[in-house]
Amino acid sequence: MADRNSPIGVFDSGVGGIGTLAALRRELPGETFLFYGDTANAPYGTKSRDEVMACINRIMEHLLGHDVKAVVIACNTATAVAAAELRARYDLPIIGIEPALKPASEVRREGSILVLATPMTLKLEKFRALYARYGEGAIPLPCPGLMELVEREADDEARRYLLELFSPYDLTKVDAVVLGCTHYVFLRPILKEILPETVSVLDGNEGTARQLRRVLASKELLSEGPGSVTLETSGNPTLVLPVMQRLLGRA
Ligand code: DGL
Repeated sequence: MADRNSPIGVFDSGVGGIGTLAALRRELPGETFLFYGDTANAPYGTKSRDEVMACINRIMEHLLGHDVKAVVIACNTATAVAAAELRARYDLPIIGIEPALKPASEVRREGSILVLATPMTLKLEKFRALYARYGEGAIPLPCPGLMELVEREADDEARRYLLELFSPYDLTKVDAVVLGCTHYVFLRPILKEILPETVSVLDGNEGTARQLRRVLASKELLSEGPGSVTLETSGNPTLVLPVMQRLLGRA
């Protein structure tokens, strides 16, 4: 039976959720985190909903086998596909991440908001509901292939991808860019080069970390430490773990 000293499971389709993990560590340094990157099955965002659900079911079994006290879905796509179903099925806190459209609507002046996410995230009901509520001036931009460039740390290709993606827009008329996929958070340095300084670049990592703290506190599940992190991947650990370590250092 999980208690306050049990680990918190965190998962993503790959290395993107490492940025979320870093935010969780900053917010809750006393917690034990078990991060799982499903690299062997990435990307999720261009698969079918059933295929993604099957991957998530396997990960949940794995995390529950480690007696986790809570799960953070550090993946916008997996949250959109599975958060509601997992909450109905399991009796433990499940925290998801969603595109930061609400914070973007708060910083918006007269300009537009570009929302970058996977094709799957933008297609599903969860995003549609968010868009109906906070989407004034927002332009959804599906980015197939972009997460793979982050996985490969292919910065030059990612720069070209983003320049092409933004080419139809007058960036001086953009108020915010929403990073609606956890992988894209690692593109912030490139976005800083490309975007005018007036554009706010927003992601959901800090909000997710605050939400985890609130939920654990309300259930008296906060640990007093000492904290630690274990990284796991379904891919080739010799290749993937060094990338995860590097990104964790950078984040
Ligand atoms: N990192 C994921 C997200 O936040 C998904 C990337 C993918 O697997 O396509 O949406």
